[in-house]
Amino acid sequence: MTDLEELQKEIQKLKKENADLKKRKKFGLVWENKEREQGIDDGEYYPYLVKKGDDFGIENGDSNKNILIEGDNYHALQILQYTHKNKIDVIYIDPPYNIDKDLKYGDRWIRKEDGYRHSYWLSFMQKRLLLAKELLTKEGIICISIDDNEYARLKLMCDEIFPSNFIGVFTKKIAGGKNDSKTIKVNHEYLLCYGRSNKSRIRLKDEVTTKDTTRSLQKDGDEELREDRPDMWYPIYVDMKTKEISFEYKKGLLEIFPIKNDGTERRWRWEKKTAIKDVKKLCLVKGKDNFDNVKYDIHVLTPKGTKKQLPWSSFIPDYSTGGGAKLTEVLGRKIPKMYPKNLEYIKWICGLSTKESPIILDFFAGSGTTAHAVMELINDENVHITNNARYILVTNNENKICEDICYRRIKNVTTGYSYQRKNKTIEIPAINSNLEYLKLETLKYDDKRHSELDIKDFMVDKLIEIIKVKEMCFSLKKVSDFLYKFNKKDKDVYILQNIYNMTQEDYIQTKKILSESKEDTISIYTLALQNHAHYEKKVADINKNIIFEPLPENFLKLLRKIQRKKR
Ligand SMILES: C[S@@+](CC[C@H](N)C(=O)[O-])C[C@H]1O[C@@H](n2cnc3c(N)ncnc32)[C@H](O)[C@@H]1O
Repeated sequence: MTDLEELQKEIQKLKKENADLKKRKKFGLVWENKEREQGIDDGEYYPYLVKKGDDFGIENGDSNKNILIEGDNYHALQILQYTHKNKIDVIYIDPPYNIDKDLKYGDRWIRKEDGYRHSYWLSFMQKRLLLAKELLTKEGIICISIDDNEYARLKLMCDEIFPSNFIGVFTKKIAGGKNDSKTIKVNHEYLLCYGRSNKSRIRLKDEVTTKDTTRSLQKDGDEELREDRPDMWYPIYVDMKTKEISFEYKKGLLEIFPIKNDGTERRWRWEKKTAIKDVKKLCLVKGKDNFDNVKYDIHVLTPKGTKKQLPWSSFIPDYSTGGGAKLTEVLGRKIPKMYPKNLEYIKWICGLSTKESPIILDFFAGSGTTAHAVMELINDENVHITNNARYILVTNNENKICEDICYRRIKNVTTGYSYQRKNKTIEIPAINSNLEYLKLETLKYDDKRHSELDIKDFMVDKLIEIIKVKEMCFSLKKVSDFLYKFNKKDKDVYILQNIYNMTQEDYIQTKKILSESKEDTISIYTLALQNHAHYEKKVADINKNIIFEPLPENFLKLLRKIQRKKR
């Protein structure tokens, strides 16, 4: 290579380096993305669900079930991508705050001294939040508890994941703070709230006014001028004897326009047709302009006792203690080193949903405060949450937290429990509810067991469990050798299986059963590995609107792969 060639090569290299540097992110959150989590996403894992066991779960003859999933939430969120995409109304999470060894990354605990601990935490949270976002409905909201340790980084990350959909942040008083702190005794944490889209809203605070109040009908603030909305500049007339307000000119009436005290021409807040319709809410108010002349204005009257919806204060002084005591009451024993959230606080968060029957997801469920909160909200006639609201909880089983604490708590709340206070026994009545308790397992593509598995049965078994989660219904009735029907009140949903063994007569019989269905629209899951359309066509020509539900594609892909390997 000549000197010139070498120089040219060096220039090309520098140009590329320069271009790469320009491409680098210059604003926002930058961190060292950590290696994959051992046993979570460091290979080809296919999560599926199994029933925890016959001793677990709560039956209640209900076709719409609450769900508890034991296992790593990354895998649970992957399954929920199929079962609950765009279906969750509220996500509440209380993740590890990344303080002194509370973060488990794959199979290792991250130590406080680890120089990369923020990077581990961010990598851990980012992949979970990206999946979680996909589950929210268009109007859905996510609320995240966090403290000063990771607040700033989490805020930047969420700003990127939910761009332009920051709803707000609450600062919540908490107990504690160390008196031996050298500077500030910290007794607050945060609740970060984001929406899935600009349609997302939180329910406002209900208030009842305690006295009559009035507010000027003049627009005050943005676009307040006459030229901003010329159609909202119109005269309002007042009979000074009777104080009657009208909109037609008549001799002797006082004419009032929206004019500021300094003489600026403004506009009214209401369109003329609204003002005519709600004239009874309007009243005359006497005041003075900036030059001390008497000036009359039109106000809107809010009488005492009116229900109003007001914005929340960003500071939450309540609910600072009591989470641990409540858990002790419900379980009948003290759980060391557990810091559950205050039950009333989580009820308040769930109640931020504008929906009456929200589906609420908590994928760092810990002791199950969120499940307890949803049950109590449903049971309370004075709140807007009705008995169709449901929860999905996910928690790992560190120190048997899922089995011995979370599940036990849900069970005790459902059956009722008692505890002692000041030598008195307090009885807490049962809350009618239900629960399906499932456990996550994963299949690894190179798993030795594959050769021993009867793939077809395995596939059908696992798919059905996942479909049950999608329908939030775990009761399936056998209708024929090929057809199963979900025991649902609100819709007719079928699973068509063993299709490879179906004869022409079987198809005729299946079509007959389907056409006798009570509903005009029915949903069918066709458990075919390949050629869905082929099998769907065979039952499609009945007098019903049939929705052929999709199957989880990643799962099918794996099973096809295994089947090919077997051949
Ligand atoms: C701070 S606690 C939540 C406490 C909960 N809000 C309550 O009131 O009881 C976080 C919980 O998430 C669980 N957890 C941590 N990492 C997890 C993961 N990757 N998958 C599932 N659960 C996890 C922990 O076991 C812990 O119980």
